[in-house]
Amino acid sequence: GHVLVLAGGLSHERDVSLRSGRRVAESLREVGVDVSQRDADADLIVTLRNDPPAAVFPLLHGVQGEDGAIQQILTLLDLPYVGSPAGSCRQTFDKPISKGLLEKAGLNTPPGVVLSQSTFRELGAAALLDALVGRIGLPLVVKPSRGGSALGSSLVNDAADLPSAMVECFAYGDSAMIERKIEGSEVSVSVVDTGDGPVALPAVEIVAESGTYDYHARYTAGTTEYFVPARLPSAVADDVAQAAVRAHRTLGLRDVSRTDMIVDSSGTPWLLDVNVAPGMTETSLLPQSVRAAGIGLGELARDLLAAAVK
Ligand code: DAL
Repeated sequence: GHVLVLAGGLSHERDVSLRSGRRVAESLREVGVDVSQRDADADLIVTLRNDPPAAVFPLLHGVQGEDGAIQQILTLLDLPYVGSPAGSCRQTFDKPISKGLLEKAGLNTPPGVVLSQSTFRELGAAALLDALVGRIGLPLVVKPSRGGSALGSSLVNDAADLPSAMVECFAYGDSAMIERKIEGSEVSVSVVDTGDGPVALPAVEIVAESGTYDYHARYTAGTTEYFVPARLPSAVADDVAQAAVRAHRTLGLRDVSRTDMIVDSSGTPWLLDVNVAPGMTETSLLPQSVRAAGIGLGELARDLLAAAVK
């Protein structure tokens, strides 16, 4: 039977998802896999029931793609899919929850606090500003508790810019995570498991031309320089690989994940975010790591689908 790539959806990362989906579908076709691509719309369940694919590769990013919703539907329909169980997706996608789990497992995450929009309104910007800056220090990063691709995220160097950063963040959801900005190299480690256990691929080091790896820097070719493998001493490279595999296991993830981190000047990795549906666009990180490992994206996608069916 055919395999189905799911892409699109209605999250803020719809465009990214469509690009990821196209790329993976094309790569699968290149290795001879019979593949179709479809959006996650209201007719999805009926289509899946009437014409069940052999396996599904969900490439939906953000809400409903990474929060466990689509994984729950595929599980209910008893369809094999690439990716993590619904419950693990739900925990991982919620940054405050995954942060707590990672910390409990002994992994480092930046000092931070979670703030709801209602608390922000009740206490007022001025009082909060003092409390937050006093507690976390500057610079800090404000990001939506649930979301990806850096949408709604801001780097705050100056306390006066915090209220507008909060307002921008709340446009993407009612919970904000505010974390100390750790100085160091920005590094991302993809983990794949095609049946023999989770393996870390070569780390990607990210150097955004603007200094901030924002949405534009992520998806506009030429705006960010990537080093694969990351320019790290080999002992540190081992540590970041190990941290990503530990994050993958700690959060109960399956098949594929990508952990974004900062490596400080002492070589300590600070985990920022774990993604259950890493981007697969032309500029995305996981495909660069796959290439550096000497693997074809089509072969990897095919092997992940085959493992899902087993
Ligand atoms: N959230 C995007 C798709 C990524 O992390 O690659």
